[in-house]
This record gives sequence, C-alpha cells and structure tokens, in this order.
Amino acid sequence: MGRASDAIDQQRLWDRHMAIARFGATGRGGVNRQALTEDDGRARAELAGWAAARGFKVAVDEAANLYVRRDGSDADAPPIMSGSHLDTQPAGGNFDGVFGVLAAFEVLEALDDSGMTHRRPIEAVVWTNEEGCRYAPGCTGSLVFSGRHRIEDFLDATSPDGAVLKDDLARTIAATPRAVKRTGGGPVDGYIEAHIEQGPRLEAAGLTIGAVTGIQGGSSFEVIVTGEDGHAGTVPLRQRRDAFRSAMAMVEALYGATADPDDTTRFTIGRFQAYPGSPNTIPGEVRFTIDFRHPDGDYFAAMVERIVALCEAHAGPCGVAVKRRHVAPPADFDETVIARIERIAGELRLPAKRMISGADHDAKLMVPLCPTGMIFVPCQRGISHNEAEMATPDDLAAGARVLADALLEMADA
Ligand code: GLV
Ligand code: MN
Ligand code: MN
Repeated sequence: MGRASDAIDQQRLWDRHMAIARFGATGRGGVNRQALTEDDGRARAELAGWAAARGFKVAVDEAANLYVRRDGSDADAPPIMSGSHLDTQPAGGNFDGVFGVLAAFEVLEALDDSGMTHRRPIEAVVWTNEEGCRYAPGCTGSLVFSGRHRIEDFLDATSPDGAVLKDDLARTIAATPRAVKRTGGGPVDGYIEAHIEQGPRLEAAGLTIGAVTGIQGGSSFEVIVTGEDGHAGTVPLRQRRDAFRSAMAMVEALYGATADPDDTTRFTIGRFQAYPGSPNTIPGEVRFTIDFRHPDGDYFAAMVERIVALCEAHAGPCGVAVKRRHVAPPADFDETVIARIERIAGELRLPAKRMISGADHDAKLMVPLCPTGMIFVPCQRGISHNEAEMATPDDLAAGARVLADALLEMADA
C-alpha cells in the first residue's frame, strides 16, 4: 500500500482555496469574512456540501465548531483531529486558517480516494472566531471545546457593527442545517493544525516545512480612558480631562517599555478610537487595544502586569479601565508529534526545520487535551493579515502531504 501523501491532489486543494475565497471577496485579491457573518456561514455551508457529497459525517456544536468525520474501524476510539478557521481579518488573505481547514479536508478526501482505512476516526474541524477582530477574544470555538470556557461566557459579546454574538451564532449554526448537533469537547487522541507561517523565516531559509515546537505567549487588552467632553475653543488646557491626551501618555510609556533591542517582543496597538469623534469637541473617551506577545513565559507574565500598571500610572486627570481580553502563556507542543512531522518531511524529501509560532492558533487550546502539533508552510515575504497574503500551490500541497501521513500514523497508532 502506498502512502496517504501520494493521494493528495494539489489541484483540488488549490481549487478549493479559490472556491472559499469567493465568500467575502473584497475585489482587491483579499477577503473580509469576519467571524459569524453571513459570508462565514456561506463558506461553512460550501464545505459541508463537499463533505456531504463524499458521505462524510458533518456535525456542529454549541459554539458553531463544524466537524467533518471519516469513520475509523474502531467505532469507540476517540478521533484524531485537524483543522483551523475560516474567519478572517477585515482586510485578510485567502490562506490564513483556510489552509488548515482545507488541508485536513483534503486528507479525508485523499484517504477516501485511495480506499485507505484507519483505526481511529479522523475529523476535520472548523473552529469558530479564531481571529477575534469582530468579537473579542479570539479562539472562541477552541476555548469552548477545550473546556476553558462555556459558550454562555461569550453570548452577550457585541461587535463594532452592533451585532450580538448569540444572534450571529444561531444564524451560523443554521447555515449548515443538515449537520448533526453535538456538544463540543473531547476525548481526542491527537491534533495537528496546518497553517501558513505568516512570517518570513521559512521562505528566507529556502525551506518548505516548519515543524512547530509551540506558540509564544499572547495577550490582548482593551483600554478605556474616561475624561470629559468639552468645547475645543473655550476650556483651558489645564482644566481639561482630555482622554486623548491621557491615552497618548499611556501609549508613549507602553512603546518605551516594550522597546526591545533583540526584536523579540511583539507589541501592537491595532485599534484606537476617540469619542465623540468631533473635530471641535475635547474627546471624553478613548478606547484602544493592545496586543502583546513574547516567547519567554516569565518575561511575558511580568510584562502583562506592567502593561496594566503603565496604563494606570499615565491616566493623569482621566479614569482608566484596562480589560484583559485574553492572556495565554507560551505553550509547548508534544515532542512525539514534532518529531513525527520532522521525520515525515524528511521521508518526503521536503526541507524542514523546527520553529516556534509567533501567531496564535487554536492548536494552543488543544495542548492540554491531547498530543498536539502544527505544520507550517511558507507564505510569500511572510505577508499575512493582509489582502496580498499568498502561498504557492506546491507549498500548500507539501504541507497537506506531511499532514496526511502524520494523521494516518496517529490514527493507527
Ligand atoms: C491570529 O491571527 C493571531 O492574532 O495570532
Ligand atoms: Mn490563523
Ligand atoms: Mn489570523
């Protein structure tokens, strides 16, 4: 019998990416398919349709996580899972997340084409709201699946466009009406997520496969600075409670504290809004977000506290509330999974190296549940969270081939 990787169909995998790219296409080569929007639902329905045509079992849970299952010979064995997300950034690309979902689905199709059987079931999964840009925090689906949260914790979340998560969730679940309703959660016997690297290291080194060792610590905050609205022409500067001015002092202190000669720290203020947003009114409120990441667990934990303290120390005459949306220390993947990915890449003559992930992924939530790992493939110039995001059909297929062999081994182990 040949290898599962032999049955990976590069053209089909590419065509499926282009098919999903239609949902939320911006007309500039990218996509705006934010979590739990109608386009997110349409993309899920497309995948569910392909799955049903194959005779795979499709299920959806209370967090709208969508599962496509190929049964194993042991009906009672927990599954090996693989997947990622179909939601995107507001100006996102066609590969972030989509590749992990479609690579897992391609493995199921490849196994089906070649008539290969396996002991454990293999499930492709679409996790809900990985990106977290429309509803914070991200990784909603995997947070619920992992048991770290219940869906009730998120139902009242609101989006910047005024929607409420519980309504969007119901519509998204209804987008795949024939999916069997199940509850999220394990047991799971293994998880591998394929993803584009979203950074420049593989391409720069001329490598095709990253055997991911873990994910750096990641945190996100919303800072709400409260001052007092006032007339721009009359209120003396010393009497003002100008929320913008206080926010600027915080931002300056934060950039200073996170400056890093080693260039290891990742610090981003991605949203900054002043209210009421009138040119001749002193802003009485500013809301901004902070995204801070670092691979060193101790430093990460200390800086998370320092970020809160710096905001509070620079509030001046204003009030400040620092909301921790998400704080996840670094996570290490399972050595047997990492070594398996490295070995299979070698057997397939694909140049590979071990590397840590700078981006966050649903895989982080799977670490406590089962042996977990990730496979990276290069993306052009490392560009991601950008409509210009691009990966080659060859590299995507190479990642799917490594995934196929690794999943089949784990399903039979
Ligand atoms: C997910 O896209 C992240 O923010 O790392
Ligand atoms: Mn992603
Ligand atoms: Mn992303």
